[in-house]
Amino acid sequence: MLSRPFKLSLRVILPLAVLLSLFAYIVVPLMDKLTLTWSVRDLDNRSQLLASTLQLPLREYVEANDRERIKRLFDSAIQDERLFALAYCNNDGKLLYKTAAYPASLGCWNKPVDGSKRTSMVQQPRGPVHVHDTPIQDDATVLGRLILVHDMSFIERRSAETKKYVLSFFALLAVAISALTLVVSHLSWRGWLAGLNDVLRGQLLGRGARAPDAAPPPPEMEPLIGELRGLLEEYHQDRQNSSGEAGADWAPEKLKSLLQQDLAGDEVLVVSNREPYIHDKAADGEIRVRRPASGLVTAVEAVMRACSGTWIAHGAGSADKETVDRNDHVPVPPANPRYTLRRVWLSKEEEQGYYYGFANEGLWPLCHIAHVRPVFRSADWAEYVKVNRRFADAVIAEARSDNPVVLVQDYHFALLPRMVREALPKATIITFWHIPWPNSESFGICPWREEILDGMLGSTILGFHTPFHRKNFLDTVDRYLETRIEQEASTISYGGELTQVEDYPISIAWPDYPNIAPVEQCRSEIRDYLGVPQDHLLAFGVDRLDYTKGILERFQAVERMLELYPGMVGHFSLVQIAAPSRSDLEEYMSFEQRVRRLAAAINERYAGAGALPIILKIEHHEQEDLQRYFRASEVCMVTSLHDGMNLVAKEYIAARDDEGGALVLSQFTGAARELHEALIINPYHIEQGAEALYRGLTMPASEQRERMRAMRDRVRRFNVYRWAGHMLLDAARLRKREKVMQKIHAHSRGGLRLVS
Ligand code: G6P
Repeated sequence: MLSRPFKLSLRVILPLAVLLSLFAYIVVPLMDKLTLTWSVRDLDNRSQLLASTLQLPLREYVEANDRERIKRLFDSAIQDERLFALAYCNNDGKLLYKTAAYPASLGCWNKPVDGSKRTSMVQQPRGPVHVHDTPIQDDATVLGRLILVHDMSFIERRSAETKKYVLSFFALLAVAISALTLVVSHLSWRGWLAGLNDVLRGQLLGRGARAPDAAPPPPEMEPLIGELRGLLEEYHQDRQNSSGEAGADWAPEKLKSLLQQDLAGDEVLVVSNREPYIHDKAADGEIRVRRPASGLVTAVEAVMRACSGTWIAHGAGSADKETVDRNDHVPVPPANPRYTLRRVWLSKEEEQGYYYGFANEGLWPLCHIAHVRPVFRSADWAEYVKVNRRFADAVIAEARSDNPVVLVQDYHFALLPRMVREALPKATIITFWHIPWPNSESFGICPWREEILDGMLGSTILGFHTPFHRKNFLDTVDRYLETRIEQEASTISYGGELTQVEDYPISIAWPDYPNIAPVEQCRSEIRDYLGVPQDHLLAFGVDRLDYTKGILERFQAVERMLELYPGMVGHFSLVQIAAPSRSDLEEYMSFEQRVRRLAAAINERYAGAGALPIILKIEHHEQEDLQRYFRASEVCMVTSLHDGMNLVAKEYIAARDDEGGALVLSQFTGAARELHEALIINPYHIEQGAEALYRGLTMPASEQRERMRAMRDRVRRFNVYRWAGHMLLDAARLRKREKVMQKIHAHSRGGLRLVS
């Protein structure tokens, strides 16, 4: 491949070569002609001079008719290598004397009878010769003419040589100019690139700022750089305006006003499998409300509090039916209702096939690289289709207009967007996939891959956590469906409809726990509660009890850390909270056994050395309790083998208003893309996990503060309102575009009617 500066130089060099060749083509014959003229003039002079020298003796010998001396005179004269021959003619034009080589065809070189001019250059079979005649006079009487014939072959040689020099000169000139052009263009190219780079980097660092190591741009670039800067400025402004980022951070009020202004009068419907509030009947007969352990619920609940509307979900609690009205509605949050929860009821078989079977034995392991094989059964698929239809019907029933904004959550409802689209073609359907999306080959394992993709493409907007998952999705669609994909715009055109595919990294609402105790108090209380000394070091992990979370690897890292740093034995514990999850499934039951066994084995190994290294709590905990653990721990361990985002990492950071603590974070989480200041590890690499844990436990306070500050700032700004805001803004834009298109269509139809 040719380098860009070289290609650019070629644009100069090639025309230059053509121009120089043209010059050479014109100049060489001119030079030739000039050399010839000069040479003929030289020969004329030379002949004149020679003739003058020969004049006297020749006149004498001619008058005496002394042939012998004339011959000698002529022979000695032609010793000159250029003088080729001599002859003498009388006034009657009769050739009297000549040297041997005198060309007979010349005769007395008389003037042509037609009066035309004689040319001194005469072609002879041996080549051109120069002919000159001079009268030989005795006083005023002309006796005859001396004819001198010069060889002109040296002129030809000279002209060939000149030609060679001129051509070489042009060739050299071409090479020199090309080399110079190459060097200059290369240097300028580098300078320009560096200049542009600085502008772009500067723009990224901040409005119009220059990167600290940036040299001033080359002066010739100033106008272009100025324009570029202006354009980038406009672009930034546009993006900020359109994403609502100008001004204050994203907050509930901002989200609400966005909904009112940009989606005026439009209602929001959320549909997810897991409900945000579960009503359970306790053993004492009391009805208690529980918040499930789910990243999805954590995020979407905050958005619904801000937006109001209706959340449609599976009513899975043992007292759920008792707490709804006749429309299956219950206002939530129970203490201070902000939106409506609409519960959908599923039979045991439906839940088994759709939720446990297809969603959690099929799609869940399919999308997570955790080395658990997905299981696909036709019966599960049939339930999945049926339940998607049931929820779609609920959405349609809840919609008060024909164009609601529907936020579809996760892998439980891949078919629902198409079903809703068919009933409500004008709806804005935003589907968010909360888990990773695998590469196209892995996804191909699913026997109903085309149906799933078709269902999802009923969405107006499809969201993933990371650009990587978004790209995997585009590749998958490209591989299994006939669509038109615009990679640049990230859109898929399918069956005449357009789906925007974007990445929207999910987040949390910045916590506001007015009654939460200060960090020092939490530290002390939690240690008392655990029955460990006040200076005991704590790491903390909280997850659903799921094989994707890397809980076994975390325990192994703890064990290895104690092996590597025996001084920690008895002075350190990992508190692991594991919320029971999907426990009807064999895979999850056996995982629980393995987790319990490993914790017990490690604890046994270090029994008798003070506090146990692993404090395992397989039970549900409320948010407030988790906050206290977050605040009490030196380190939080998030070691997922694969995770779409992982909000525990963000919750830990948000909980540390003291700017203390360290986060050990798996590189296979979406969160690792944002939280660069965490101690990023490969959870499969046990030593790496062990070292990171030790490093976190012994990290100086100043370093903790520095890292925490940066991460807290990011999580606070990139919060869940921003996540939802970006999706809703994109939706609003698409809706506006849709309305404009409809108007244009209506107009054009009107126009057509008028014409016809
Ligand atoms: C993941 C899924 C969510 C789900 C959550 C809890 O975060 O993406 O859709 O709600 O796990 O799982 P569960 O099966 O208990 O709802």
